[in-house]
Amino acid sequence: MTVASPLPYSDNEIQALRARFDNAGQGHVFNFYDSINEDEKAELLKQLMKIDVENLNKIYDKAIEGAANALHSQQGNSLQPLSTEVFDSVLKQDPTQLKEWETLGLEKIAEGKVAVILMAGGQGTRLGSSDPKGCYNINLPSGKSLFQLQAERILKVQELTQRYRRDGQDVIIPWYIMTSGPTNKRTFDFFTKNNFFGLKKENVIFFEQGTLPCLTMDGKIILESKSKVAIAPDGNGGIYKALQEKGVISDLKRRGVEYSHCYCVDNCLARVADPIFIGYCVSKGTDCGVKVVGKAAPEEPVGVVCVRNGKYGVVEYSEISEETAHERHPDGSLKYNAANIANHFFSTAFLERVPTFQAELEYHIAKKKIKYTDLETGEQITPKANSGMKLECFVFDVFPYAQNMSVLEVERHEEFSPLKNAPGTGADCPETSRRDVVAQHVRFIEKAGGKVMRTTDDYTELMFEISPVVSYSGEGIEHIVKGKTVKTPATIETLDDLIRVTC
Ligand code: UD1
Repeated sequence: MTVASPLPYSDNEIQALRARFDNAGQGHVFNFYDSINEDEKAELLKQLMKIDVENLNKIYDKAIEGAANALHSQQGNSLQPLSTEVFDSVLKQDPTQLKEWETLGLEKIAEGKVAVILMAGGQGTRLGSSDPKGCYNINLPSGKSLFQLQAERILKVQELTQRYRRDGQDVIIPWYIMTSGPTNKRTFDFFTKNNFFGLKKENVIFFEQGTLPCLTMDGKIILESKSKVAIAPDGNGGIYKALQEKGVISDLKRRGVEYSHCYCVDNCLARVADPIFIGYCVSKGTDCGVKVVGKAAPEEPVGVVCVRNGKYGVVEYSEISEETAHERHPDGSLKYNAANIANHFFSTAFLERVPTFQAELEYHIAKKKIKYTDLETGEQITPKANSGMKLECFVFDVFPYAQNMSVLEVERHEEFSPLKNAPGTGADCPETSRRDVVAQHVRFIEKAGGKVMRTTDDYTELMFEISPVVSYSGEGIEHIVKGKTVKTPATIETLDDLIRVTC
């Protein structure tokens, strides 16, 4: 009688696996193999079978080399700031031009040629919440999460574009949401619990990005426990591989989508599916586009769009030298001033082209406090200082491969207020997010010729909010508020709500 092995692999397969890891200098992942039980062995083997260990070593070497190059390239002449002639700015554009871009964007959306891609696979460690960042409630009067604000903006753009739709069918903006192992289930559950915020379920498509093992500073795979390798999402640049492998590109093509607006989850002011940005990029024949704002200060943790060896690129805040960050023009303005607000435009044709240069893309090192198992004692350690690195691709590393890149400067206070830090930190935190959304809604009323009754000038406290379903960027309210005062507290979810509180 033969007893079935509980392990999912044959002895030969296990031996071959051990040899591969040994040869790659990563044999320590089997350190505790003989002392763990059969279930744990199976768990470990399953994980190791999926790791391309030779490639992982190559990625590590490339990341180390890339970090050195990033600094080196800032020393010579290869790095140049963006000159103002090469980008356009909504701040300087005349209203007729803006209207033209907007109309073109609305038409393309109405034709079903535009999708939205959200990068929501990050772990949000700086914010200190264990939930996916998009679920975060920034304490608006309505209690809406970031996901809900974004969903409502999509709903509104669909509505605004409906009149451009010639065949009378419903306008659809498909929303592709990239999650990762740590955020996938909770993101999906959150959407389900909230009934997809009024969007049709079939038009909200979740896809999971890949992961990579975490490494020690000298490139050794970290064991989180005796039977588990520490892994982390492969950075927001993992989007390109995931778009291919998870069938998103095929779905875009099936739906006839030619352009995508791709953005980060943590910006409460993100103009999701922004018709102006889409129209601008389409009018320029852009294959890859990005929005920027003026950098607030040399130390602001934002990447800067620049030109490297004659091609567009971004120097990330984690890789910029202090000297470069502080360089100024003779008039005192920052040389590297074009802050990346992580709002991108991609043509579907460009996304399809990425695999042709994928292997050349960089990897970056993010040093982190990563839980590890002491290889001698077997004890699990939760470190207080950085103990290892995550290897990440960045979404903007494709810029140098664009055939026709466009950069659009937008107003910071209208489009950028990221949520990065924990409550009470005073910068890029829940309080500043709330403040900036409420301030924008007050401006909507004022621009439409009305006033908002203020019980306080502190927008972290003022109880006033307009749902994006009522107004996307201040439009459609003038006939109600012009010459009038809007009473507070008010949480406006419909035009009727607005009429009720206006006198
Ligand atoms: C990012 C930009 C930075 C920009 C800043 C503006 C990148 C690489 N950096 O920095 O240049 O100035 O935003 O706020 O884009 N994400 C994933 N998967 C991952 C990691 C992250 O989907 O593996 C997503 C996050 O969920 C988030 C976005 O990518 O939506 C940005 O990630 P985050 O780590 O917050 O970027 P920053 O370091 O703030």
